[in-house]
Amino acid sequence: MKNIILFGPPGSGKGTQAEKLIQEFKLTHISTGIILREEMQEQTLLGKEARHFIEKGQLVPDHIVIGMVKNIICGKKNTRGFLYDGFPRTYKQAEELETMLKEINLQIDKVFFLIVDEENLIKRLLLRGASSGRADDADESVIRARMDEYRLKTEPIRIFFEKCGNLINIDGMQSIDVVYKSIVAKM
Ligand code: AP5
Ligand code: MG
Repeated sequence: MKNIILFGPPGSGKGTQAEKLIQEFKLTHISTGIILREEMQEQTLLGKEARHFIEKGQLVPDHIVIGMVKNIICGKKNTRGFLYDGFPRTYKQAEELETMLKEINLQIDKVFFLIVDEENLIKRLLLRGASSGRADDADESVIRARMDEYRLKTEPIRIFFEKCGNLINIDGMQSIDVVYKSIVAKM
């Protein structure tokens, strides 16, 4: 059972590539962002708590997202593997994922790091914000807050992945199809 991570800043193309990869490789998509947005839409307790952070561009507390991911991994026995998109995003999340997988004799197999410069990321997110209805895309100050969170809490775990020897750098500035082919070539 494969465990593949799509890693990168907000707007780097994780969700776009995930949609294509899950079809091709029949993997279970774990996007903590999508799950949290569904919870917000349904106005669940978890959704109400998450909204407070998401609308400010801040990360949702670790215990919430770790619990969500644990539930999916434990509940899904019939799958070829998992494709993580937007998780892990902190050291704690990365360590917990590794531990969770070890307990069931699995490991993180590959981490694809999508590299895109910040100017382009902001352009992409503002463009999408015009139609996505995502509260965290509509306002440039919230997008910048997401970038700050990424730089402070998420980017540093790249070293964690590098040490594990499974980090693969991908030029995320190329077209969607070229990025996809670059990932598939290293799957
Ligand atoms: P999440 O939903 O994960 O959002 P994000 O990572 O901030 O960024 P996006 O999903 O917007 O970007 P993406 O990399 O998926 O790019 P996409 O393919 O969409 O998280 C949202 C919030 O939830 C967080 O801020 C946080 O509050 C909370 N959260 C989620 N997970 C959490 C966790 N683990 N811990 C704590 N909190 C968590 O593409 C973006 C745009 O670019 C699209 O319009 C797309 O069409 C376009 N595009 C994609 N690829 C290309 C390309 N190659 N060329 C040109 N345009 C492209
Ligand atoms: Mg996404």
